[in-house]
Amino acid sequence: MTSNALVAVTGAEGFIGSHLTETLVAAGYRVRAMAQYNSFSSYGWLETLSPDTLDQVEIVLGDVRDSGSVHDLAEGAEAVYHLAALIAIPYSYRAPHSYVDTNVTGTLNVLEVVRKLGIPRLVHTSTSETYGTAQTVPITEDHPINTQSPYAASKAGGDRLADSYHASFGTPVVTLRPFNTFGPRQSMRAVIPTVIGQVAAGEQVITLGDLRPTRDFLYVKDTARAFLAVGTAPAEAVVGRTFNAGTGGEISVGELTRLIGKLMDTNLDVREDEERVRPAASEVMRLVADATRLRDATGWQPGHDLEQGLLRTIEFFRNPANLARYKTGIYNI
Ligand SMILES: NC(=O)c1ccc[n+]([C@@H]2O[C@H](COP(=O)([O-])OP(=O)(O)OC[C@H]3O[C@@H](n4cnc5c(N)ncnc54)[C@H](O)[C@@H]3O)[C@@H](O)[C@H]2O)c1
Repeated sequence: MTSNALVAVTGAEGFIGSHLTETLVAAGYRVRAMAQYNSFSSYGWLETLSPDTLDQVEIVLGDVRDSGSVHDLAEGAEAVYHLAALIAIPYSYRAPHSYVDTNVTGTLNVLEVVRKLGIPRLVHTSTSETYGTAQTVPITEDHPINTQSPYAASKAGGDRLADSYHASFGTPVVTLRPFNTFGPRQSMRAVIPTVIGQVAAGEQVITLGDLRPTRDFLYVKDTARAFLAVGTAPAEAVVGRTFNAGTGGEISVGELTRLIGKLMDTNLDVREDEERVRPAASEVMRLVADATRLRDATGWQPGHDLEQGLLRTIEFFRNPANLARYKTGIYNI
């Protein structure tokens, strides 16, 4: 792939997608960015990127459930980065059909378009949630898949389709499996923005779900660089393979909350909220990554530790203009 080449991104207006768009432009690419069609003509987080970045970005409204709009997005691109998905676990309990439509059928549409147009590289996005609670740690890509929520099941369905397209048609797909990603622009559905956002909004009592699960938190700029790494590595190093992206570190939600309190210089009164606690068999209790395969294939490694990433995230949420984009007083699912 040459620099200044055109690449296409689905889910570009979202949290990781908007950071990836910036990373791709910084690396010299022109980006055709799909934002999901909506009647407000909202481009999500893409609206907040710098004018210099946006000069290199063509924003198109579309929907991955519609193969025509995926075709128009991908035509002429040297790579497609497929991030569009429904991602909230609690909402997947309520609206599972929409998860299958978006995460399974949407991924099938992307695979078909990439295959028919002969696009040289597709980066498909998986998630560490497909592993379920760790049976062995750290989790390598050979760990069993155990889908404990409709969200995880729909993502694993997309992953299996991606594997099958590589096996059946030689489609040049590589699957990136990020562990929990955090940073500026993340939705309040996730734990870190929930805590930081509530504190920044002046709430005295912080309400959370189960405090025991542990996660491997990866700063979003490092996740974006992992996408770029697998999107640009020589085909023989990555195509047809799945790569974890994570730090290898682990922290419980309870400890994480205490750390955020310390960094924000505040004493947190943390309460468990029944509404936020997941069914016991659906809660993934432990996730920690082994990202050796990604490092060996591409040289990627994380560039931020947890505290550095948290400080940048706190700075983002303390800016009133950013905080105003969130609803801190409700349970965001
Ligand atoms: N955030 C994490 O910790 C994490 C971890 C592992 C994997 N992932 C994966 O990374 C990707 C991006 O997640 P995110 O955290 O940025 O979430 P996000 O919700 O901010 O981004 C997803 C984007 O997909 C778009 N989208 C949803 N349905 C669509 C449709 N039918 N057509 C077109 N676009 C549609 C949404 O509008 C949104 O902008 C997802 O595939 C997710 O499964 C996220």
